This record gives sequence, C-alpha cells and structure tokens, in this order.
Amino acid sequence: MNSKLILEHQDLFEHAAYIFDVDALTDHISEVRKHLNSNAKLCYAMKANPFLVKVLEPHIDTFEVCSFGEFHICEDLGIDMSKIVLSGVFKGKSDIDKVVEKYGSTIVYTAESLRHWELLFAASQEFNATLNVYLRLSSGSQFGMSKADITSICENISQYPSLNIVGIHYFVGTQRKAATKYERDFRKLNEFVISLPYLDSSKLSLEYGPGLPIDYFEEDEKFEDVMTTALYEALEKQAKVLPVTVELGRYLVANCGHYVTRIEDIKHHRDLHIAIVNGGMHQVNYFGQSMAMKTPPFKHIETHVSQRDETESWTLCGALCTTSDILVKSCELKNVNIGDFLIFDKVGAYSVTEGIALFLSRDLPQVYFYSEAKGLTKVRNSIETYPLNMAKEQ
Ligand SMILES: Cc1ncc(COP(=O)(O)O)c(C=O)c1O
Repeated sequence: MNSKLILEHQDLFEHAAYIFDVDALTDHISEVRKHLNSNAKLCYAMKANPFLVKVLEPHIDTFEVCSFGEFHICEDLGIDMSKIVLSGVFKGKSDIDKVVEKYGSTIVYTAESLRHWELLFAASQEFNATLNVYLRLSSGSQFGMSKADITSICENISQYPSLNIVGIHYFVGTQRKAATKYERDFRKLNEFVISLPYLDSSKLSLEYGPGLPIDYFEEDEKFEDVMTTALYEALEKQAKVLPVTVELGRYLVANCGHYVTRIEDIKHHRDLHIAIVNGGMHQVNYFGQSMAMKTPPFKHIETHVSQRDETESWTLCGALCTTSDILVKSCELKNVNIGDFLIFDKVGAYSVTEGIALFLSRDLPQVYFYSEAKGLTKVRNSIETYPLNMAKEQ
C-alpha cells in the first residue's frame, strides 16, 4: 500500500481502517491458479476474511462455509449456491433443516461427526433430497471423524440411500511449515480412500486444506516459497490418483490487506518514546505474534515536514486499556508526530473479524447478571454478527 494514497486521503482515516487491495488479490489468485494448472480446483475458506467473498466469486471454484453466520453472508450476497461447501464442527438440526429444505442438493455438505451424518440423513429424508457429502477425517484434533467412524458409515451406506459420499475432507492445520508432509498426506489419504468399503473410489475426491503459511516477520525463517513449491509438486503427482480441491484461506488473502491507524498521542519517559494510535491489537492480528516480541510488516507515514533527522526508539501502542496492547516494540523511527499514520501489511486474513469475537460470524453470546435477590437477569441478547462481516458499498 503506497503512502501517497494515504496522505492524499488523510480525512478518510480519522478512524482506523482496513484496506483490501482487490487488484493485488485477484492477481495473486490468478498466479495461484497458474500453478495449480488443471491439477486441482480452488476453494476459498471464507473464515479468513468474509468481506472478500463476492470479489472472489468469479475467481475461485468453491467456498468453504464454516458456520450458519457465514452461510447467511453468502445468501445475502447472492453467491451461487452450487459453489458452497457447508462445513463446520457444529451444525445444529434446525439450521441443517433450513438449508436442506431451501437448497437441497445444490450445495455440498460436510459431515464432521456421526451426528452430522444422521442429521443430514434425516433432513434428506424429510425434504426429499439426495445430498452430496464429504466425510471429514480428523487430523488428530476435535475436527472431523476418526477413520473407524468413517469406515463404519461406509459399511452401513446402504441404510442411507439419500446421502451420496463425494469424498474425504481433510485440513492439516494453519501455517504449516513442513514441506515433506504434502506427499505423505496424499499417500495416506489415497490409501484410506481406497480402503473404504462399498464405495467406488474412482468417483471420490479430496477436499484438502494445506494450511499454506505466510511469512509475517522479517526476523523469522521464510517458508512461503518452499511450502507452495512442495504443494504444487505434490498436487501434480496426486492428479494421477484422485481429484483434489485445495481449500485455502490465509495464503489467498493475507497479502491484500492493510491496516491504517493514526498516531493520536505521543509521550516520552526518559529514553522511551511512546506513540498511542487509535487502533490496537484487537484489530491487527499476526499469527505467531506474542506481546509484540516480533516486528510486524509496517510503515510509518510522516505528515509533518521533517524536523529531526536522527532516529529514536519508539514503542507503538494501541488504544486498549491493557499493557499488552503494543503493536510494535522498540522500532527505530524518525520525525514521529501526532497525526502521522502507520500502515500494517499482510492483514488480509484473520484480522478483519476484529478480534476473536467476530471470527466465523458466530452469534455473540447473551449476557446475564446474577444476584441472589434477582437470580439471573438478562442484560444483553445474543447478537448476530454476520451483517458486520460483509462488504456493502456505503
Ligand atoms: C477446514 C478448514 N479449511 C481451511 C482452513 C483455512 O486454513 P488456512 O487459512 O490456513 O488456509 C481452515 C482454517 O481453520 C479450516 O478449518
């Protein structure tokens, strides 16, 4: 993001802002697609940044939609329902029923548990639809099913005539850094798929989340290039075995995002120079950052004619009432003034949902007070957050 743009539009940035460079985004997607060739389809895991769904619709094959909040975003934006893979560790009966009643076999579903499988079957019977389902295989976490559960579903498949298994869903974990693991994963997944009873493996595919990493910090070892190369090579070999849809979030969108925040106050404690900005750590999130121990990718944009040429050591703090709200610790800057801007880069993924509360467009919890005299008193209803996480021209 160039400084000139910010300086020319200073009045727009009275409040902190995210800027998503959609040109950079679509260029990047074209580049990824070039590497994938015909070896794999591309799925965007929209949890990484729900604002970009509509922009990405023409450029990707499918969306991994991980909650009903995310599903509402897609519905409201008029996303082509045939592009949706309805995933997520928690799917309740009433939500599943509503979606199946309305969209039936147009969308693809994932079953992450035996209960999901049963709920999908019940809905398919009730609404007379044949549903396409990926069975999610756990990589050791709470997400997905064990091999034994998946095998038992397949063994009893004749009892579920209205569910059609289309393949295996597998996510390796985000920010993966071990390049040799892609080939190994495919080998194991292929073996597993072929072992499944009563299924024709030639009709199955993999929905595979490779967790490609982003190199956020200058001081860290770099992984982006080795991991992408390893993935593309593994996919080329895999193309001869089973079709794959590559499910990516962070790697697709991180680099298109920038966060602009303004310096609102400065102070000096002996040699310590402190700037307070109008944003903070609740709005900028770098995976692997801990208590500002690492330096994130950022620029200082001066708004005053240079007064001092020598650099000073600055600590850049946010506006939260916590000592941990430090965005950058001890960085060398010169000519720092109130009204200057900081631009943080690589914040396109997992930042815009402004802290964990808006992540995945889940509803905010209700709040109760408790006292012995009054018992439980509700002081806030549950709040839908999905309208906050979608782009609409203002
Ligand atoms: C099932 C699934 N697929 C894809 C992703 C996206 O991961 P990443 O942003 O590392 O690409 C996630 C992230 O949590 C996920 O849970």
